[in-house]
Amino acid sequence: MKLPRSFHNVISYVGTACTGVSLTVFLFLVVLDALAPKERAPYASLVMFVLVPAVLLVGLALIPTGMFMEYRRVQRTGRPSIENFPVVNLNDPRQRNAFTIFTSASVLLLFLSVFGSYQAYEATESVSFCGGMCHTAMEPEYTAYLNSPHARVRCVDCHVGSGAEWYVKSKLSGLYQVYAVATDAFPRPIPVPISNLRPAQETCEQCHWPQKFFEAQLRRQVHFLSDEENSRWNIDLLIRTGGGGAGPGKVGGIHWHMNIDNKVEYIATDEQRQVIPWVRMTNRHTGQTVEFMSTESPLSDADKAKASIRTVDCMDCHNRPSHVYNSPRVAMNIAMADGLIDPTLPSIKKTGVDLLTATYATTDEATRAIQEGVLGFYKTEHPEVLRDRREAVDRSVTELQTIFKHNFFPAMKVRWDAYPNNIGHFMFPGCFRCHDGLHKSADGRVISKDCHSCHSIIAQGKPDAMQLTADRKGLKFQHPIDIGDAWEETPCYQCHTGGSP
Ligand code: HEC
Ligand code: HEC
Ligand code: HEC
Ligand code: HEC
Ligand code: HEC
Ligand code: HEC
Repeated sequence: MKLPRSFHNVISYVGTACTGVSLTVFLFLVVLDALAPKERAPYASLVMFVLVPAVLLVGLALIPTGMFMEYRRVQRTGRPSIENFPVVNLNDPRQRNAFTIFTSASVLLLFLSVFGSYQAYEATESVSFCGGMCHTAMEPEYTAYLNSPHARVRCVDCHVGSGAEWYVKSKLSGLYQVYAVATDAFPRPIPVPISNLRPAQETCEQCHWPQKFFEAQLRRQVHFLSDEENSRWNIDLLIRTGGGGAGPGKVGGIHWHMNIDNKVEYIATDEQRQVIPWVRMTNRHTGQTVEFMSTESPLSDADKAKASIRTVDCMDCHNRPSHVYNSPRVAMNIAMADGLIDPTLPSIKKTGVDLLTATYATTDEATRAIQEGVLGFYKTEHPEVLRDRREAVDRSVTELQTIFKHNFFPAMKVRWDAYPNNIGHFMFPGCFRCHDGLHKSADGRVISKDCHSCHSIIAQGKPDAMQLTADRKGLKFQHPIDIGDAWEETPCYQCHTGGSP
């Protein structure tokens, strides 16, 4: 095969080599992709359709560039850059050795680039790539993720999903994120809701089956009060998770608003979707709709016309499925219930909560302050405890420090109160954004605030004097300390902030 004379120059040769190598790598990845049983992971496409073709394109561009320069050179000087090709004589031992070394090295290089690209293909979709690359920026999310029920689900499965459109969207915002991290221009904490988070149907529902009906589930919440005895208080809640229909099981309970038989839409007036003045429900079978408006802070017609309407999906309730930052009270309750912190140490609940609630500039500062705080407290208030039970005190210090490292991230200003959790109504408005008893329809229907509609309390109280019931409707809530009927009038989250009062 004859090629134009001008092809013979170093630049065009390099271009040809690049093209050849990247084409081989590309074909290798295509075959690999076709053989792999799983769906192509989004970040793998970055390697396959961006990185490798980029090298290919550069290679292709080099060939005519070299030819053009060669043409100009011949025009100018009348002489080609490579006048005579070397004569390879394999009978000459030196040339034979050189030839062997050259071809083996080339094959090795080709093998290495194929292998390297495969590694890159695997790496970019890995959790450590997402969580570890931008260490400071992603540290809170990554740490919380590793301690969550989704620790085995890859970041990209929730944040990107499959398909070209979301792939491109995530790549575009990814480019900006790389820039923001490189120039240290990213916000602290990272704001939510993430505006381009993919709808739940395409992420959560790839694994979770929205039609699934959950029977009522029993959950025991263990609490310790702030008195010297750290009095324990148990609440056994039967949570009516229920189901949304169109499958096994009836429609009802909490998963009633699953978007299958019933659709619920709303307008929020703030960025974080915490203030919801307007709600509309639609029965998908009858098409009947009911609109509810907050009687406390109604939405004007003008505001309603320009607001955007959002349909409730998993993330409107489960907005922290993976990045859970426990509050000081919750973290202490868990550690004490598990015996990691000895609940017989006097006032340990209050001491721990106070130390965790304080703000610290760095994790090191917090670690020191926690140790000094606990030891200082027992030294002045209970010297006998420090003398006789030093080991239990030291263990509580270590555990408190671990709680801090898992849930508090001063560098990113992230802790429990940076991100509202929409499940429940205890520390954040959550369900009470709509179920506050103040959202009414024109014909007087109210979104229920009845304490028995979502769960029933089947046992509550101090462990040795629990109030029990066999009635599925449950007990009337008894507040652990006497606050009169304040809990009926004031929403729980207004007093319960998660930290020290
Ligand atoms: C089970 C699904 C799921 C997985 C797995 C997951 N995330 Fe998230 N992530 C979410 C949801 C839901 C939000 C909250 C979005 C909102 O409120 O708008 C979120 C929010 C975030 C935020 C915004 C800040 C914040 O804390 O809310 C970052 C950053 C983030 N995720 C990074 C990651 C990284 C890195 C990984 C992997 C180590 C990961 N995510 C894994 C579902 C997930
Ligand atoms: C790749 C599969 C996968 C995806 C995607 C996924 N999950 Fe999960 N999820 C699981 C598995 C598996 C579990 C059970 C973990 C366990 O119990 O060890 C789980 C558990 C849960 C639980 C129960 C948590 C608990 O405390 O026991 C909730 C709620 C949940 N997921 C919600 C979500 C939401 C909301 C999304 C979307 C943002 C989502 N999941 C995306 C696989 C997934
Ligand atoms: C109206 C709010 C709401 C919506 C919308 C919602 N959930 Fe739930 N879901 C709850 C509550 C409350 C529970 C009870 C358990 C709890 O408190 O964590 C629950 C329980 C669950 C559980 C069982 C957890 C366990 O303890 O075993 C899974 C899984 C789950 N939801 C997934 C989903 C998925 C997937 C979607 C979207 C298709 C969704 N949920 C939509 C509020 C909601
Ligand atoms: C965006 C507003 C909104 C939010 C947020 C919301 N709900 Fe609802 N919920 C509704 C509406 C509207 C109805 C229907 C009221 C009616 O039928 O009169 C409803 C009905 C219910 C029902 C009764 C279903 C049945 O069987 O008829 C339960 C239980 C329920 N919600 C639980 C919850 C829980 C738990 C949360 C928080 C995790 C929550 N909801 C958050 C709007 C909301
Ligand atoms: C719209 C549904 C709904 C209504 C109405 C409701 N709750 Fe709840 N409640 C929840 C959910 C969801 C949780 C969280 C369960 C979990 O931790 O997963 C919860 C949690 C609780 C807890 C446990 C808090 C903790 O962390 O230990 C108590 C106690 C409680 N509710 C009492 C009440 C009382 C009293 C009322 C009436 C004033 C009430 N609830 C009304 C949905 C509701
Ligand atoms: C007027 C303020 C106020 C209101 C409203 C209120 N509480 Fe409390 N609650 C308190 C105080 C004060 C304590 C004692 C805290 C302590 O000893 O650490 C407390 C303690 C508790 C505890 C144990 C706390 C822990 O740290 O584990 C639970 C559980 C609780 N309340 C549930 C509720 C529920 C559920 C509601 C809403 C239905 C509610 N409270 C409404 C003031 C309030």
